[in-house]
Amino acid sequence: MENIEIVDSEKPGHHTLVALVKGTENPEVLTVNLSAQIARGIRDAALAIEHDGKAGTLRIVPAPGPGGIKHFALVGIGDELTEGAVREAFGMALLNPQVGTDVAIVVPGDEKILQAALEGALLGSYRFDHYLSQKVSFNPIGVVTQIPAESLEQPLHRAQVLAQAAFRIRDLGNLAPNDLYPQAYVEKIQSWAKDLPVTVEVWDERRLAKENCGGIVGVGQGSKCPPRLVKVTYAPKDAVSKVALVGKGITFDTGGISLKPAKGMDAMKSDMLGSATMLNAVLAAARLELKVGVVAFLALAENMPGGHAMRPGDIITMSDGTTVEVTNTDAEGRLVMADALVQATKEDPQVILDMATLTGAQIVALGTRTAGVMGDEDVRTALVEAAQEAGELMWPMPLPDHLKEGLKSHFADMVNANVTSREGGMLSAGWFLRHFAKDFPWAHIDIAGPSYNEGSPWGYTPRGATGMGLRTLVTYLEHFE
Ligand code: BES
Ligand code: ZN
Ligand code: ZN
Repeated sequence: MENIEIVDSEKPGHHTLVALVKGTENPEVLTVNLSAQIARGIRDAALAIEHDGKAGTLRIVPAPGPGGIKHFALVGIGDELTEGAVREAFGMALLNPQVGTDVAIVVPGDEKILQAALEGALLGSYRFDHYLSQKVSFNPIGVVTQIPAESLEQPLHRAQVLAQAAFRIRDLGNLAPNDLYPQAYVEKIQSWAKDLPVTVEVWDERRLAKENCGGIVGVGQGSKCPPRLVKVTYAPKDAVSKVALVGKGITFDTGGISLKPAKGMDAMKSDMLGSATMLNAVLAAARLELKVGVVAFLALAENMPGGHAMRPGDIITMSDGTTVEVTNTDAEGRLVMADALVQATKEDPQVILDMATLTGAQIVALGTRTAGVMGDEDVRTALVEAAQEAGELMWPMPLPDHLKEGLKSHFADMVNANVTSREGGMLSAGWFLRHFAKDFPWAHIDIAGPSYNEGSPWGYTPRGATGMGLRTLVTYLEHFE
């Protein structure tokens, strides 16, 4: 990814120079390491337009002359220079089409701030042009910094790894469901893994049946595109512990026989983002050479209605022998996750984390931007803290005992959905998964809302797949070393 270049601060030479404005009382442009002429030009510009320095204020000013620059883009960060403010500010600038695709950023502060700046700028520079006849080409982002070259390598590498992972997650979520069906997904995984110290093992529909994965087989049986279970392993020699990751990979969720309404169904192409995030967390761990073993189980299926589809009332047997009465075929995520969780327990890991676009109830409870985290208190807390550090919104949620009652079945060990009450739907789904994670230390992250942005772009978050969750997982894994 040749997407960043350190530039000569005397001659940044890009079309638009992006700088931060700090302070709402006496707004000040952070013009670190620029030539006196450019620094003066940019300060004068901020004064002339009376930039308010508030977080979220982006103003673009023509800047004829100095160092080949044509425009200044001035972004406010509020009163404090924090990693979060810097990530958001550069992100929103580069996401804005008016700032253009030939940009240099002026980065004040230490390596931590630089890291956040690069993350934000890269995340903001994402453009999904796969289906456009007019492709977008973003020039390498110029970086003006006072940090000496030898200290740049580490933050640059980490930012690039995180950005590549987020871009791949976004691409997977944005790809049309006729192009991203389970086997097509498998082939992408194999091609990405090729250059890395990770192994990929794939179970096809026959193997899944043989291993009694009734959840994955049941959900996948209505589709012409058969389901897969993919195991991706990163096992560094010096690792003392192992984390298992499980991800929901429904490449399209029609609801099945319990069909969803037409409105907004197209967004259900993003119902595989839990698996995309878990996959890219393993790949990122390998690229960052983390000293922790990571194994991911990705449950891939397409949930379709049809003559062979699973029916409401069907009773299926999961790979641990648990029988499940399917009361609603639209609660398919937990069915494929159950089999993948059972496989994860067989690895005997220190902890199991799962991520899924699991419930509409998550969005009702926490809104579109904040993920819900359930499970063992210490795992949940570590995740929420990692999220805070990474600048992502995750919130701890309980699993109250009484909600377990709603999963009782008259005909089988469990039902997959409580069809008599929708209350606490995110938590009921959490209880369902808990059963298959057994007694392992475990947490479940519901990203139904934050994984896919159907509204306007904000910060470094574009329309469509967001890549949310990846930085939290990598931060968690880094702490686990
Ligand atoms: N994929 C959906 C959840 C979802 C909804 C993700 C909105 C993103 C945005 C999931 O498979 C589903 O349909 N869940 C049902 C469960 C219910 C039938 C118990 C839901 O939330 O309505
Ligand atoms: Zn569903
Ligand atoms: Zn789903």
